Amino acid sequence: MMNEVLDLVRRHEQWRVRGCINLIPSENVMSPEVRSLLSSDLGHRYTSREEFYMGTRLTDEIEEYGEKLAKDVFRSDTADLRPLSGHIADMIILANFTKPKDTILCVSPDDGGYPGIWGQALPGYLRLRTIGFPFSKEMMNVKTGEAADLIMKEKPKLVIFGASLILFPHPVEELAKVAREVDAHVGYDGSHVLGLIAGGEFQNPLQEGASALFGSTHKSFFGPQGGIILADKEHGEVVRRGVYPAFVDNAHWNRIAALSLALAEMKEYGKRYATQVVRNAQALAKALAEYGFPATCPNLGYTKSHQVFLDYGGYKQGRIIARKLEGANIIADCGVRLGVCETTRKGMKENEMERIAEFMKRVIVDREAPDQVKEDAAKLAGEYQEIEYCFS
Ligand SMILES: Cc1ncc(COP(=O)(O)O)c(C=O)c1O
Repeated sequence: MMNEVLDLVRRHEQWRVRGCINLIPSENVMSPEVRSLLSSDLGHRYTSREEFYMGTRLTDEIEEYGEKLAKDVFRSDTADLRPLSGHIADMIILANFTKPKDTILCVSPDDGGYPGIWGQALPGYLRLRTIGFPFSKEMMNVKTGEAADLIMKEKPKLVIFGASLILFPHPVEELAKVAREVDAHVGYDGSHVLGLIAGGEFQNPLQEGASALFGSTHKSFFGPQGGIILADKEHGEVVRRGVYPAFVDNAHWNRIAALSLALAEMKEYGKRYATQVVRNAQALAKALAEYGFPATCPNLGYTKSHQVFLDYGGYKQGRIIARKLEGANIIADCGVRLGVCETTRKGMKENEMERIAEFMKRVIVDREAPDQVKEDAAKLAGEYQEIEYCFS
């Protein structure tokens, strides 16, 4: 039985790491050093702020060091590394800054918002009412004027910017002022764009008027899978008290050590990494559009994030496209959203983006058998196995 598990993992790694071009925008790869910390002894341990457990001196120091780095990288007053995932970070924010029957305003999943903070998901459990930002599909962004009117009319308790499909910075600066007038808390779910924010290549929500920035640490941010909450002093103190024991007990200290090292990498290499990510996304979008793919927002330069959006009008057609691409060892989702974080971290640049676009064209436009393109995709993937933007 042991062999079966080991063999499945080995085969997964052989295929997905060495043979595939990964364009899933919610994924990335860790550096070997960050990855090695996940298998350190810290993965066996407990610690707690009440000093219930002994033997935690160094574990606590790691966490404090990581928090310090996070505050530095994101220019925040407070940082909390304990949320186990982006979803749990969302849960902590929703639960601590609202009460039943309150209204929250965020991007609807129909416009690329995160389904976890919509309708019957987390808001349903917390008995919150969700309303969506007025949204322009042409601009792929929140409509500022209409959103301001909606905030004044509906007086939400919490306004959350950020989304799962996000190509351009959201109008935080303009709308945070309006939200304050009705005493709303302003948050930003940066799960997707956290690495770009860290690298100074997207907006910085905390400087633009948001009180909390939160989300996953493994999408454009190249840390281990997990979550983080960065906030101003007032909101950070509420979060600090609100995490344990309600939402996180063991915060997985191997993950926190790995995240701390990833933060150090981001501090050192984040600017270069994030700049290249955006360049690559723009190069991929442009090349795909030239082949006739439905890349959105050509007039806006397609994207300012790590994502490219191919609008096939829904998951049904998207799934057909994504399945064909998978047959050619090009891994995307059914959105069809494409992300370039992992390829960038493996050292690919604009030229390689053009080659990827050409492989995709052969499969989708020329209708070449995916099997025939697979070898070429695997060869390109195989040439980019080193992780860049890290210390080694
Ligand atoms: C905007 C947004 N927030 C939160 C999440 C949940 O993050 P996690 O998978 O880390 O729980 C996602 C997941 O993709 C997301 O896109």
